Amino acid sequence: MEKIIDVKKLSEIKKENLKQEIKMLSKKNVIPKLAVIIASFDESSKIYVRNKKRLCDSLGILQEEYYFSNTVTTDDILDTIDKLNKDDSVHGILVQLPLYKHLDKHKILESIDVRKDVDGFKEINTGRLLLKSKDMIIPCTAKGIMSILEFIKADISGKHAVIVGRSQIVGKPVSYMLLNNDATVTICHSKTKNLGHYTKEADILVVVAGVCNLIKKDMVKKGSIVIDVGINKVDGKIYGDVNLHEVIDDVEYITKVPGGVGVMTVISLIENLIELVKRSNNIE
Ligand code: GUN
Repeated sequence: MEKIIDVKKLSEIKKENLKQEIKMLSKKNVIPKLAVIIASFDESSKIYVRNKKRLCDSLGILQEEYYFSNTVTTDDILDTIDKLNKDDSVHGILVQLPLYKHLDKHKILESIDVRKDVDGFKEINTGRLLLKSKDMIIPCTAKGIMSILEFIKADISGKHAVIVGRSQIVGKPVSYMLLNNDATVTICHSKTKNLGHYTKEADILVVVAGVCNLIKKDMVKKGSIVIDVGINKVDGKIYGDVNLHEVIDDVEYITKVPGGVGVMTVISLIENLIELVKRSNNIE
């Protein structure tokens, strides 16, 4: 059995579904449009933005990018978001994170109209996720991870899921998604002592620490599922947080980096966008 999850195959299936949805929308004269705000020097953001653009282009989704230099103020970005909130042709607004340090991230994210919060980062959407409300918009990477687990027909209920990382973008949302699906959830982070003690107990291990080679031999449980969300650039090459070669004998399934979770993050973003388009046009 192939242990490395064929995320490419999953993404092809999802893309095909999206194409059908977009075709259905175009028959109703609705063309989805995503607005992306980029106010950072971050290298991995550039890769993410490029991948988003490529996928949007291939699916016939309109995308507008707003780039800001490091002299931008929080108010400048709020003005842009205000215009985008009022523009009916825009269905989703994405503020690429991280932002320049001097900007007020919370104020910026909260200024997005909830109907256009394609990342689901607003407090209200975080609350909806926590409460398992049907209106929730699941943050893209967490949604992508859940799609991967569904693809391999992972049994989540009653399993011990360990998440390494507690970020707003991935660690917390994926923890709640797993809890919502009846896993017993342990969240580890940079202050956790004896990390291996917890990771060895995981039936499902999600690693989103941003530390290359963090999970090594003897740190995973036999027969476990390992989802590696890390993106670490070393000497121009991309590595995950898990040493795949050291753990592959022990796992049942594992995602690779690159070609794993990252592929699903952008697909999930477009799925969220289509959901927002349908909601704003009262389409089931
Ligand atoms: N930076 C890294 N991942 C993400 C994401 O999913 N959304 C946004 N807005 N920024 C990110």
